[in-house]
Amino acid sequence: MQALAETTGGNAADIPLDQLDVSEVQLYAQDSWRTPFARLRREAPVHFLSESPHGPFWSVTTHELITYVESHPEIFSSDFKYGGISIVDLYMQNFLSSDRPRHTEQRKVVAPAFSPSELLRMGAAIRKRTSERLDAIAIGETFDWVDNVSVELTTQMLAILFDFPWEDRRQLTEWSHWSRNVEAARDPEMSKVRDAHMHAMTTYFNGVWAEKKNQAPGTDLISRMAHSEAMGDLTWEEKLGNLALLIVGGNDTTRNSMSGMILAFNQFPEQWAKLRADPSLLDNAVPEIVRWQTPVLSMRRTCVENTELGGQQIKKGQKVVMWYISGNRDETVFEEPDRLIVDRENARQHVSFGFGIHRCLGSRLAELQIRILLEEMIRRRMVVELASEPVRPATLAGHGFETMPVRIRID
Ligand code: HEM
Repeated sequence: MQALAETTGGNAADIPLDQLDVSEVQLYAQDSWRTPFARLRREAPVHFLSESPHGPFWSVTTHELITYVESHPEIFSSDFKYGGISIVDLYMQNFLSSDRPRHTEQRKVVAPAFSPSELLRMGAAIRKRTSERLDAIAIGETFDWVDNVSVELTTQMLAILFDFPWEDRRQLTEWSHWSRNVEAARDPEMSKVRDAHMHAMTTYFNGVWAEKKNQAPGTDLISRMAHSEAMGDLTWEEKLGNLALLIVGGNDTTRNSMSGMILAFNQFPEQWAKLRADPSLLDNAVPEIVRWQTPVLSMRRTCVENTELGGQQIKKGQKVVMWYISGNRDETVFEEPDRLIVDRENARQHVSFGFGIHRCLGSRLAELQIRILLEEMIRRRMVVELASEPVRPATLAGHGFETMPVRIRID
C-alpha cells in the first residue's frame, strides 16, 4: 500500500513531475485524484508522460486549455484510425470517433432524437417510471442506490430511446458495461469475453435494424439511423461502434451523476436543504451536479500536425488527453471547486459534456432525467442518507460508483 499511497493522493507532491501519472486507476478507486491534478494545473498544465500502460501521452488539465483543444478539431483529431477518443487505443468506429465531414453527416441523423419536442414526449415517460421506482423503495431500509435507482432509471430511459423490448432492457446495462470496459479491451483473455458480448449486441441489433428498415420510418434512434442516407448502410463495425456510443453515452454517464449527487448532498447537506426550500434552483443545481461529479474523466485526441499548446511543443501523432475532471476543478474558473454549491453562478461553464463540435448530444436528456429524479425526491420529502462508504471502480472508463448503500427517511 505504501507504493500506492506515494503514487496517489496526498503524496503526489513528492513524485518527480515527469513521472506523475494521472492515468493510474487507483486514483479513482481511492478518490485521491484531487492533489495530483491540482499540482498539474499549477506546475504543468500541459504535461508529458513518456511511459505508461497506454504509451506516452500529454495531459491537459486547465479549463482554458481543454476548451482550446476542443475548439481545434483540425489539429486535435478524434478519428478512430489514430486510436479514437479514449486514452486506451480502441479503434471503434462511430461518429464521436470521427472528424468532419463524416462526423457532421452522422450527428445530423441522430440529433433530432434529442429535439425539444422529443424531450417533452420522453419527459412524461421518464417521470412516470421515476415515480414508480421511488415509490417501490422501502423507507428506512438499506439498499444499493446505484443498482436500484441510477442503473434502473438510465436503463429504462435507454429502452425508451431505442424502443427496446422492455423485459430485455437489462441487456443494455450489460452491453454498456462491456463496451466501455477499456481495461478488458487491453487484456488478451478479457478482450475475448468482451468481443463475445459485443458480438451478441451486434447480432441482436442487426435483427432490430433490419426489422425497422422494412417498416415505415419511426422516431426511435434505430429507425432514424436505419432510414437515413448517411447511416442506413453502415458496415458491421460502424453499426457496432455507433450503438455502443449511444448505449454507453446514455447509460453510465447519467447513472454516475444520479449517484454522485447523493454523495454530494451527504457531504453538503445544507445544499439539499437549500434546494428543497427553493426548487427554482433546480435549473442551476443540475449542471452543478454534473460539474461536481464529472462522469466522464477524460477524452483523448491525436495531434495531426506539430503544434504548440500552453508553451509545449506537441508532435504530430502524439496522444493528447483532456482531463475534464481537472478542468471542472480549475480554481481560476470555479471558486471553491470541490464544494457542491447549488446556486453557483457559473455552474454551466463546466466541461463535463465536452465543448465544440463533439459536445454531448444527450446533454439535455441527461439534465432532464436528473431534474425529474430530484423533483420527485423533493415532492416525496425524501432525504437519502449514506449507510456506508460507496465503492468506486478502478477504471478510466468513467467516473462513478459500483455500489452506494443508502437509507431513505422522509422529513
Ligand atoms: C451526465 C450525462 C452525460 C455526460 C457527462 C456526457 C458526456 C459526454 C462527453 C464528454 C462527450 C464528448 C464530448 C467531446 O468530445 O467534446 C459526449 C458525447 C456524446 N454523448 Fe454524452 N454524456 C452524457 C449523457 C448522454 C446521453 C443521455 C446520451 C444519449 C443517449 C449521450 C450521447 C452522446 C453522443 C451521441 C455523443 C457524441 C457527440 C458527437 O461526437 O458529436 N450522452 N458525452
